[in-house]
Amino acid sequence: MSSDTPPFSDDRPPGPEGLPVLGNQLAFLRNPYEFMTRTAREYGDIAAWEDPGGPVYQLNHPDHIEQVLVQNNQNYIKGENFQNVLRPITGNGILNSEGAVWRRNRHLLQPAFHPNRIQEYASMMTDFTEESLETWEDGQTRHFHDDMMEVTLKIVARALFGADIDDQVHVVGSALDEFMLASETLSHFVLPPGVPTPSRRRIRRARERLDAVVYGLIEERRRNPTEGDVISTLLEVTDDQGNTLSNEQIRDEVVTLLLAGHETTALSLTLTAYLLAKHPEVEERLVEELDDVLDGEAPTIEDLEELTYTERVVKESMRLYPPVPGIVREPVKPDIVGGYEIPPGATVRMHQWVVHRDPRWYDDPLAFRPERWTDEMERSLPKLAYFPFAAGPRRCIGDRFAMLEARLILATVYQQYHLELVPGTELDLMATITARPKHEIPMTVHRR
Ligand code: HEM
Repeated sequence: MSSDTPPFSDDRPPGPEGLPVLGNQLAFLRNPYEFMTRTAREYGDIAAWEDPGGPVYQLNHPDHIEQVLVQNNQNYIKGENFQNVLRPITGNGILNSEGAVWRRNRHLLQPAFHPNRIQEYASMMTDFTEESLETWEDGQTRHFHDDMMEVTLKIVARALFGADIDDQVHVVGSALDEFMLASETLSHFVLPPGVPTPSRRRIRRARERLDAVVYGLIEERRRNPTEGDVISTLLEVTDDQGNTLSNEQIRDEVVTLLLAGHETTALSLTLTAYLLAKHPEVEERLVEELDDVLDGEAPTIEDLEELTYTERVVKESMRLYPPVPGIVREPVKPDIVGGYEIPPGATVRMHQWVVHRDPRWYDDPLAFRPERWTDEMERSLPKLAYFPFAAGPRRCIGDRFAMLEARLILATVYQQYHLELVPGTELDLMATITARPKHEIPMTVHRR
């Protein structure tokens, strides 16, 4: 089904009415998932509304999203509204930069994500998971998300920086966590960046704690460079004039990778565990596959080809609960999308959450059915009907890393444990940069 593009119109697309000054921002922040879903269902493939930062265009059709992220990507930037949220912590690192700086960053970091290099990380991924499982006790109630945040943080630090941050994992984890929480408060979005607020003060303190660790890692690599780790690579780079990167530029990349490279994967695992606990028939099939293929041995990269159901479980979980629930862009020049002109400076919102649950692309879209992911089904999907890692030149640089990690961790955990949701636990998700649970999701772990 392709987009039903009407002839060009200089009217605004239809959309929800808002309040004076605040527009729809309160409605959006109060219940983002409900707001974005209702807007798509009521107004169709393209909807517009007002927000204090200017007009917002919500794109709900995969073809329109493909136009913005892929075909016409050179006309789009992330824009100040998005960048101001991340800047206090990630500075001008790859996730938050544009143009020549972004191209240089992407070029420098790409080798660390080459498929051959990623394969080398596999055994370390299972080792860190095993190490975490050794601290579990049969019948214990655990906060699985905290376990996963710790495991994925250790993995990204070791894989990309050759660093063992066991002693500092709580300092780094809690500083990044503090930042994500503080950046989700309403005042952070509504008040201009310079205005001091309690949440901004918390972000500053979190940054100080984080920087102490990160500058320590950089100094360590300056003294003892290692082959191929990202910090050593960044320390060696020079521009045309022979200038090296500043300590702060390197710090921005390191913090960006720590942040972007651990919470998203941890979330995908937490939300997968939640779904498995709610769907025992899926868990049963998963464990059957793990027993058949692994026969009691720890999973390796070679096993993954045969762990097809495991992969489908991860894919289906990221369809229903995409760890990044939406992304934003801003056109530099006017662009015609779906028959409407989007002016420069407008915010374009594209929500994985909405598109992944659209009944036009997914039969019974709210059902958790990993077996739907057949080759035939994937071939029939419009390209951008599934985009947990975005698409185009700014597609997630860590997509393969994340898929390898998620499958290996899931296999290692479920091979050894059955996770039971503590009765009465409700899943309620925030929706800013990531879809993190608002409350703990306690799970009782039973050794198989
Ligand atoms: C399930 C796990 C993950 C998901 C769902 C995910 C999703 C995404 C998405 C949607 C973007 C695009 C953001 C935008 O355009 O605004 C992105 C970018 C990025 N991701 Fe991931 N990610 C995951 C794991 C990782 C990992 C493991 C790493 C690194 C180890 C990583 C590093 C990055 C970086 C550096 C960018 C910025 C790329 C650029 O702007 O060129 N991500 N990710």
